[in-house]
Amino acid sequence: MKALVFHGPGQTSWQDVPDPSIKDAADAIVRVDAVTICGTDLHIIKGDVPEVAPGRILGHEAVGTVVETGGDVRSVRPGDRVLISCISACGRCRFCREGHYGQCRGGGGWVLGHTIDGTQAEYVRVPFADLSVHPLPSALASHDAVLLADIFPTSYEVGVLNGNVRPGDTVVVVGAGPIGLAAIATAQLYSPGRIIAVDLAASRLAAARDLGADATASADEEPERLVEDLTDGLGADTVIEAVGVPEAFEMCTRMVRPGGRVANIGVHGKPAVLHLEDLWIKDVTITTGLVDTHSTPMLLRMMAAGRLPGAAMVTHRFELDQMEEAYDVFTRAGETGALKVVLGGPQHDTVAVPPQEQ
Ligand SMILES: NC(=O)c1ccc[n+]([C@@H]2O[C@H](COP(=O)([O-])OP(=O)(O)OC[C@H]3O[C@@H](n4cnc5c(N)ncnc54)[C@H](O)[C@@H]3O)[C@@H](O)[C@H]2O)c1
Ligand SMILES: [Zn+2]
Ligand SMILES: [Zn+2]
Repeated sequence: MKALVFHGPGQTSWQDVPDPSIKDAADAIVRVDAVTICGTDLHIIKGDVPEVAPGRILGHEAVGTVVETGGDVRSVRPGDRVLISCISACGRCRFCREGHYGQCRGGGGWVLGHTIDGTQAEYVRVPFADLSVHPLPSALASHDAVLLADIFPTSYEVGVLNGNVRPGDTVVVVGAGPIGLAAIATAQLYSPGRIIAVDLAASRLAAARDLGADATASADEEPERLVEDLTDGLGADTVIEAVGVPEAFEMCTRMVRPGGRVANIGVHGKPAVLHLEDLWIKDVTITTGLVDTHSTPMLLRMMAAGRLPGAAMVTHRFELDQMEEAYDVFTRAGETGALKVVLGGPQHDTVAVPPQEQ
């Protein structure tokens, strides 16, 4: 098969690799029908995630069709169309038992495209298939459903829930890439008073306004001033970091009000300065997090009911073998206007599946 292989910082190629096979009775092999690229993949290529070894197939978000299952798999069978979650879960360890699948110690967690081969390929081996894929209702299009593999649960759990967004709050989202935009969309479930989006790219600020941001500011034009003006000098109740660079995190800690929350989502490759000399007296809560995906079933129901933006987030469609072109378009998002790029032929959307009960 073909797959996108990481060969060390700055180097990837779409190339022939051996087909995956069942290695454990809990595995499933899934044919990839729709796959996307995450800001985290860009961090990996930058060298920010050193545990990704050369030779690794990247990708941790996809929708596909099960082609083979190991003897222990009970909840899916060949022919089922499934969402492949960015987080796999053994279901047995302490963290899985508490719903903290991201922290799984039994061989799951964020493994796809990280410590095992991922989804930017024609086929992928998914471990612990019973808990790591979600059967999809046939009405949900693959290019919408693929947004639930990572960006919606991440933004909702690590941004909105960790940031404890409440009715009437002023919420600032720093970074209006797909993750920041999904945070803007899911923050609205809690009726905040206003949402302010900050980014460097005008195209992404425009997308933020389309998805419900009330005000936007360029990151290089002192957005702290705008936040101050809009909050009578107090600062924001919740500030969500959705970039993953020290400047962005440090900016978040300057924008938060006393008693407010900074929820970091960004993947960081370098240390950021924590200005405790200013923060110690402000009663702020700073959270970090890898997504657990405990919210995925709920978000799936919302997406199926038309309550989450899908189409508005997907700006580019490609065939699977246009992977390198898709990376180029996503990497130059400021110029290309790309939000989510989705690869995979539309012909696969018509795979018939019987209705599934979760
Ligand atoms: N914690 C998790 O579980 C988790 C899961 C998925 C993604 N992530 C991380 O979330 C972050 C966002 O992901 P994405 O897919 O939206 O990435 P992205 O690269 O598409 O978006 C990042 C945005 O930040 C903007 N930006 C860059 N520098 C900035 C600055 N100084 N101030 C303000 N904005 C700036 C860019 O213009 C871009 O629009 C990444 O760091 C990604 O690795 C974390
Ligand atoms: Zn991701
Ligand atoms: Zn586990």
